[in-house]
Amino acid sequence: CGIVGYVGGQPALDVVIAGLKRLEYRGYDSAGVAVQTESDGSLAVDKRAGKLANLEKSLADSPLPGGATGIGHTRWATHGGPTDANAHPHLDDAGRVAVVHNGIIENFAALRAEIAERGHQLRSETDTEVVAHLLAEEYEGDLAEAMRRVCRRLDGAFTLVAVHADAPGVVVGARRNSPLVVGRGEGENFLASDVAAFIAHTREAVELGQDQVVELRADSVTVTDFDGAPAEIREYHVDWDASAAEKGGYDYFMLKEIAEQPKAVADTLLGRIGTDGRLTLDEVRIEDRVLRAVDKVVIVACGTAFHAGMIAKYAIEHWTRVPCEVELASEFRYRDPILDQQTLVIAISQSGETMDTLMALRHAREQGAKVLAICNTNGSTIPRESDAVLYTHAGPEVAVASTKAFLTQLVACYLVALYLGQVRGTKWGDEINEVIRQLADAPRQVQQVLGTMEPVRELARSLAGASSVLFLGRHVGYPVALEGALKLKELAYMHAEGFAAGELKHGPIALIEPGLPVVVVVPSPRGRSVLHDKIVSNIQEIRARGARTIVIAEEGDEAVAPYADHLIRIPVAPTLLQPLVSTVPLQVFACELATAKGHEVDQPRNLAKSVTVE
Ligand code: G6P
Repeated sequence: CGIVGYVGGQPALDVVIAGLKRLEYRGYDSAGVAVQTESDGSLAVDKRAGKLANLEKSLADSPLPGGATGIGHTRWATHGGPTDANAHPHLDDAGRVAVVHNGIIENFAALRAEIAERGHQLRSETDTEVVAHLLAEEYEGDLAEAMRRVCRRLDGAFTLVAVHADAPGVVVGARRNSPLVVGRGEGENFLASDVAAFIAHTREAVELGQDQVVELRADSVTVTDFDGAPAEIREYHVDWDASAAEKGGYDYFMLKEIAEQPKAVADTLLGRIGTDGRLTLDEVRIEDRVLRAVDKVVIVACGTAFHAGMIAKYAIEHWTRVPCEVELASEFRYRDPILDQQTLVIAISQSGETMDTLMALRHAREQGAKVLAICNTNGSTIPRESDAVLYTHAGPEVAVASTKAFLTQLVACYLVALYLGQVRGTKWGDEINEVIRQLADAPRQVQQVLGTMEPVRELARSLAGASSVLFLGRHVGYPVALEGALKLKELAYMHAEGFAAGELKHGPIALIEPGLPVVVVVPSPRGRSVLHDKIVSNIQEIRARGARTIVIAEEGDEAVAPYADHLIRIPVAPTLLQPLVSTVPLQVFACELATAKGHEVDQPRNLAKSVTVE
């Protein structure tokens, strides 16, 4: 899942291990390194299942000989379980080539059979190992050329990085779909799946394009396509500083990222609301003419981003009167969706690398739809393949469970919905002006919620022994309930489910038993008050059956108070914007409950931050 390569004057092992640590947030279940030894160039390799600490212990017990060229990898298992043997790097028979890989080589079964037939010994169950054998066969003195020849034979998605004992001081990388970035230093160069791995050394980066091969030496970076034609090098300066990728004094990245939400929301709003209340989304390079012709919006996303999409549907339909569908990206293209030039597809993704979402957007573009990406990662694949992008400026999100990216995705969705309304001239009136004013005030409101979270933490700790928690909501509170339940599943490994409160009576109410904690997200009593009244009845129904009610309600909403065993107050906000404040207590709740259970909050078991397989 994380890749690091280094060539230069420093001990490669130290640089690679430090880089892998910076990539830990991507989620992984084994780790390994290969270093070219100073003495004879031969490759020294160590790899271990489990956390990096296991690898470090092994390296401490039996140190590898030093060298200035090396590669490393943290693996999230796809083909073959997370074992020492399946960990990367993989070697050819003679141990002269070492390869690390992200992605899936789809024709690996055929290649494996072919390689076995030619007498090679396969020592792992991975798709990656075939590449090591193929590289050894193709190598004739030029590792980059061997890599190009091998890549032309591979199907699927892959990022590959390799070293060869006969090519001292050379690291070669190849990219199709999964990301790979070069870091350029003075007399040293880096390769990694993202800049966090080398930001301590350099901020000058080169993003490798689709189907490109890079040859790295201490003093040169050469990029070609898979046929060997030189490729243009697209260099950029990384303005995230090293501290942004570190914990900044918090015990967990997740706590830091929750606390950063007011700033993240403000940064996402920055420069997008004019003093006259009009929106300027200069980045949206889809012509107004095209936006006016849109007759359907389809949102595709996964996980937490999908919940942002569900909320966006309410906003888009209400403010623009354009029909909007939301679909899990992994389901989208397989049901043959109806799309044409009048369809606007919005792909929401924090990482910009989620394969399900990428495949959905490719499918949409093939059908002629326009795609707008809402993304947090500059230069990642999803925005690069979209017609336009609106970046969320949340900064790097390291904890696997998404928090600040979610709130900024909501802000971006609101901006897109309002912008669509502005361009199309629909429904522009006092309500929208009020919404824009409140949106501009969201950073302050989120800060206010964060200042009142101690009772939520206390409550979470008291529930560490609960076996299940339910979440209920109506309208935009329904996706918020789903997100609250997802956070608890991800972090506390508990049974947690979110329901539309009105659906309760159609089945889930059978789950209610005495003492069961049920979190209820209550809509504002102002505006659409009928919603509010209905949910108050729902709270009474579950309480009558013994549930322990945890009620999230607006300040001043006294009607819910008699039925709340625990009352969590949030600031007054327009109905559609309420998720910006109602989600925050649920994030804090899940994080604290997981901590109370002794779980590793930033890297929950089995999960990956960026899932680059379908
Ligand atoms: C993974 C993460 C989730 C995330 C989802 C979508 O499953 O564990 O936290 O919501 O991917 O990620 P994206 O980067 O596309 O927003």
